[in-house]
Amino acid sequence: MSSDVVVDIQGLTKRFGARTVFEDISLQVRRSEVVAVIGPSGAGKSTFIRCINYLHPFDAGRIRVLGHELVGGGAPPSKATLRQVRMQVGMAFQTFNLFPHLTALGNVMLGPMETKRVPARDARDKAMALLSSVGLADRAEAYPRRLSGGEQQRVAICRALAMDPEVMLFDEPTSMLDPEMVGEVLATIRGLASQGMTLILVTHEMQFAKEVADTVVVMADGRVVEQGPARDVLEHPTSERSRTFLTRVLKPLEAPGVSGEASPPGGSGRGATTALGGDVR
Ligand SMILES: Nc1ncnc2c1ncn2[C@@H]1O[C@H](COP(=O)(O)OP(=O)(O)OP(=O)(O)O)[C@@H](O)[C@H]1O
Ligand SMILES: [Mg+2]
Repeated sequence: MSSDVVVDIQGLTKRFGARTVFEDISLQVRRSEVVAVIGPSGAGKSTFIRCINYLHPFDAGRIRVLGHELVGGGAPPSKATLRQVRMQVGMAFQTFNLFPHLTALGNVMLGPMETKRVPARDARDKAMALLSSVGLADRAEAYPRRLSGGEQQRVAICRALAMDPEVMLFDEPTSMLDPEMVGEVLATIRGLASQGMTLILVTHEMQFAKEVADTVVVMADGRVVEQGPARDVLEHPTSERSRTFLTRVLKPLEAPGVSGEASPPGGSGRGATTALGGDVR
């Protein structure tokens, strides 16, 4: 294994009760690599990405993440290992999960103060710098209920970044956002990628995956059906299963008369994003 590999997943298998969600998944992620995980709803993408920081225990296989070893099926990792993993692997979810009683600034300051014993003044300086870097300096004192979805998601990303993670996991970070908000969150993620952060993201934004990801992993039917360089997989998929999936997902992009302004039949506001970016659902 190259020392450049920061996440090494071997033979990962996850079951919920008798039901196998996925089986025998292997993936190596190098430092500064951007990996996009795509696939139909229910394929196990969220479950998979959550195993990487052990938010889900798993049934077989192992994950070596930044030198820490997580093993499936047996005893859970020690508290110290889990703590290290969770500090070094940040995560942003579909829903932003900010603390409602804390301002944007308070949300970003909390982690370093509580888990790293960073003095308040330093935590504040760093949180302000992070919020400024995503264009939210003037919203620092606002409470989550006064922030737009896109703003909340950027605060949530800052909150994860405040812990100085080496790897960031994103699970459909834009799927709950109105179309106008999607761009600013994607710009934030693009910025992280260009700074060399290692990123693993579940996304339905196919255009974004094509632009930003080095590697695309297609999950379906409980396994990885294809993985490889982003362009190759998205433009010339070799597996029949990923071809079927991508044809269905990319169709709205090619349909005549569909524009960013248009909403598909019966669609919510999110549909415009679908038309622009593709959607797994
Ligand atoms: N806590 C749980 N207990 C039992 N089954 C679960 C649990 N979480 C997820 N599942 C099941 O595992 C399967 C994979 O779910 P997962 O959320 O990982 O899919 P996904 O690919 O992220 O889908 P989506 O694109 O809709 O987000 C689904 O069939 C789901 O119902
Ligand atoms: Mg999911």
